[in-house]
Amino acid sequence: MSLSIEPLGPALGAIVHGVDLSEQLDNATFDGLYDAFNRYSVLLLPDQHISPEQHIAFSRRFGELEEHVLRDDLLDGQPEIYVLTNKTENGKRLGRPKAGWYWHTDLSYQANPSKASFMYALEVPTMGGDTMFASTAAAYDALSEPMRQMIGGLTAEHDFRHARETFAKHYGAEPISEEAFKARPPVVHPMTRTHPETGRKAIYVNEGFTSRIMELEREESIALLAFLYRHSTRPEFVYRHRWSAHDFVMWDNRVTMHCALGNYTEDRYMHRTTISGDVIE
Ligand code: SIN
Repeated sequence: MSLSIEPLGPALGAIVHGVDLSEQLDNATFDGLYDAFNRYSVLLLPDQHISPEQHIAFSRRFGELEEHVLRDDLLDGQPEIYVLTNKTENGKRLGRPKAGWYWHTDLSYQANPSKASFMYALEVPTMGGDTMFASTAAAYDALSEPMRQMIGGLTAEHDFRHARETFAKHYGAEPISEEAFKARPPVVHPMTRTHPETGRKAIYVNEGFTSRIMELEREESIALLAFLYRHSTRPEFVYRHRWSAHDFVMWDNRVTMHCALGNYTEDRYMHRTTISGDVIE
């Protein structure tokens, strides 16, 4: 296969043609795709026609797969696939509705947050339901040196419950069980991280899951986090993806955040795999 890669924005995002995920990628094509993934942080592979098994097999080439803690929203018989959808069948929901309608980085509330997530769009609304991605590496680069120094010495708590309390319960998202919260107790990460493959530094806090900066007073923590969220989502660091059915989008959770837009009423049905990551040094 021969890859063609075109950037989609100045900070992140590229569209890749010449890859058919229903076939086993040869090593050269895979390596080209892997390099592009590290370089652009978000890759769009349009017009893919793959089964859940093919989605899982391709994802495994990037690392071990997570089984999301929200077990009711995993695909029957294929727990590596987390289903994000507003669809129901015979009164039963088919996956998690209203998932990630706030800026966040997948699984940052775990001791080993996710490396990457790969989402395959099976059904999309005719309008709305876009996903925005922000480069936390470009945002880091744009900070002044004193600010980089300061946040480089700080750590922050990430709490699965925070998104629920701050956002999700206010727009009526499905409840999350106490069992799931207990399985994911709060964790503390450095506020910056270095991409293990590119060496690029990035801000590592997100509005959804970061609950406080450990070393600061409460008001200081609120103010600094508010600045970092506003700064990291400046338009020049963002790529907004308008989904078409059969888009396959891969994002690097080590240097991005994303936010799903809840402005749709028609059916939206997505499959996501989540690649495990390492403890942040
Ligand atoms: C997510 O993975 O957080 C949701 C993304 C989306 O549904 O667009």
